[in-house]
Amino acid sequence: MHDGNTYIVTGVASGIGAETARFLQENGAKVIGVDRNETDAVDQFHKVDLSDPASIDALIDALPSGVDGLANIAGLPPTMPSDMVLKVNLYGLQRLTLGCVPKLADNASIVNLASLAGFGWANALPQVKAALDLTLVDDIKGFCDAQALSTDASGRSYFLSKEALIVWTMANRWTWRDRGITMNCVSPGPVDTPILGDFLETLGARAEEDMKVMDRPGTPQDLAPVVAFALSQHAKWFRGANLTSDGGMSNHILSNIHEF
Ligand SMILES: NC(=O)c1ccc[n+]([C@@H]2O[C@H](COP(=O)([O-])OP(=O)(O)OC[C@H]3O[C@@H](n4cnc5c(N)ncnc54)[C@H](O)[C@@H]3O)[C@@H](O)[C@H]2O)c1
Repeated sequence: MHDGNTYIVTGVASGIGAETARFLQENGAKVIGVDRNETDAVDQFHKVDLSDPASIDALIDALPSGVDGLANIAGLPPTMPSDMVLKVNLYGLQRLTLGCVPKLADNASIVNLASLAGFGWANALPQVKAALDLTLVDDIKGFCDAQALSTDASGRSYFLSKEALIVWTMANRWTWRDRGITMNCVSPGPVDTPILGDFLETLGARAEEDMKVMDRPGTPQDLAPVVAFALSQHAKWFRGANLTSDGGMSNHILSNIHEF
């Protein structure tokens, strides 16, 4: 399915990113891995801080041309400072993606790891739009202070980062259509990786309720094939979509909202 293809995968040193890289390689692809932590389980590795514009720009300069896809998987959990969460999960991702597009092959695919946490984007549009007016070089800390995200203990900046990512992906459904480049999201529910504990800590009783109705949390092995599919030529009619791989949780929430 991926023979002869090369993909850039961020967040490759742990969890979903590490398993996606392994799965892609197992299926014939070469992987250019990106993370702030080192790993030697990829074909080429770049140590990058995705919250830092200079570090991202140096990566873009170093990347080869003609790459078949970009999987933006790196992310910070809601327990981290709000401005860092937005920088890594949204603004750094956007800077890397926009910088990579000229280097991607025609018909390449971009896949953004969003989350079930982004489910409520339609109920938060003013804040989502305000977030999407900024870029990585703007005053993200000032934005967090003004939006009361810096002092919010409920992990709101994480939710906002994923809501804005889903909306940004949708808004760019056709941006590179002339070159056949597509961009979609994959939104997992709770996944058993090193940051699952951070989610449970921040969400408290709400997460406990979720875990009670779910038969099990997801695993990186549940998500890697979905990301690989979204990177592949088999997914080319998905444009700006949000693929919910969440054990049924988004449909459970929708069923409750609409009372069926
Ligand atoms: N685990 C879950 O329950 C869950 C649920 C929904 C969505 N997600 C999303 O899936 C993605 C992967 O998460 P995971 O669960 O595999 O977590 P993880 O912590 O196992 O992996 C995240 C990776 O991102 C890297 N990273 C973080 N900040 C970075 C930075 N500044 N520069 C470069 N790399 C950086 C980390 O070093 C790590 O290797 C994230 O975007 C996360 O928000 C996770």
